[in-house]
Amino acid sequence: MMNDDMGKIMFTEEQIQKRIKELGQEITRDYAGKDIFAVGILKGAVVFYTDLVRAIDLPVQFDFMIASSYGSGTESSGTVKILKDLDYDIENRNLLVIEDIIDTGTTMDYMMGYFRSKNPASIKLCSLLSKPSRRKAKVNIDYCGWEIPDEFVVGYGLDFDEKYRNLPYIGVLKKEVYGDK
Ligand code: IMP
Ligand code: MG
Repeated sequence: MMNDDMGKIMFTEEQIQKRIKELGQEITRDYAGKDIFAVGILKGAVVFYTDLVRAIDLPVQFDFMIASSYGSGTESSGTVKILKDLDYDIENRNLLVIEDIIDTGTTMDYMMGYFRSKNPASIKLCSLLSKPSRRKAKVNIDYCGWEIPDEFVVGYGLDFDEKYRNLPYIGVLKKEVYGDK
């Protein structure tokens, strides 16, 4: 059981769903009368993305990117590569970038620069989680689910070595599970 690897649960399924409803309502209010172009950063954000867009009561166009800054461990490699680009032209669109977690900020700092260079009408960032104490690059988060301490979390899209993404809650693994990395 994947549950057996979990040291503690940080956010339950109920807490996550409640927070997403609140974020969706806030976004719906802020974008009233506009269409949203929602860019999800795969793969981590995909679970959050699909719940969040269903909490938004406005027209939402879907697009996804894959960016890679992590190796297989728990530390960012520092360089960002675009492995899958946008499918659409985002000029004059109202971009809502949806991410799972902002850690050092390296990935999102790079991605935001990339999006801005394509001249969208507006650009905002929604991240489910943020670890402010880990920040190396300044990233402005317009909608943030929760700020968390410097702990490596998994579940609800977040992985460790591509595992645990399908857990419906967010937790911290036991030391022995990733201790040898
Ligand atoms: P950053 O470039 O350091 O901000 O890293 C961002 C990416 O690293 C996120 O999109 C995640 O994929 C991954 N990441 C950062 N912290 C965690 C964590 O605690 N658990 C799982 N993935 C994480
Ligand atoms: Mg990610």
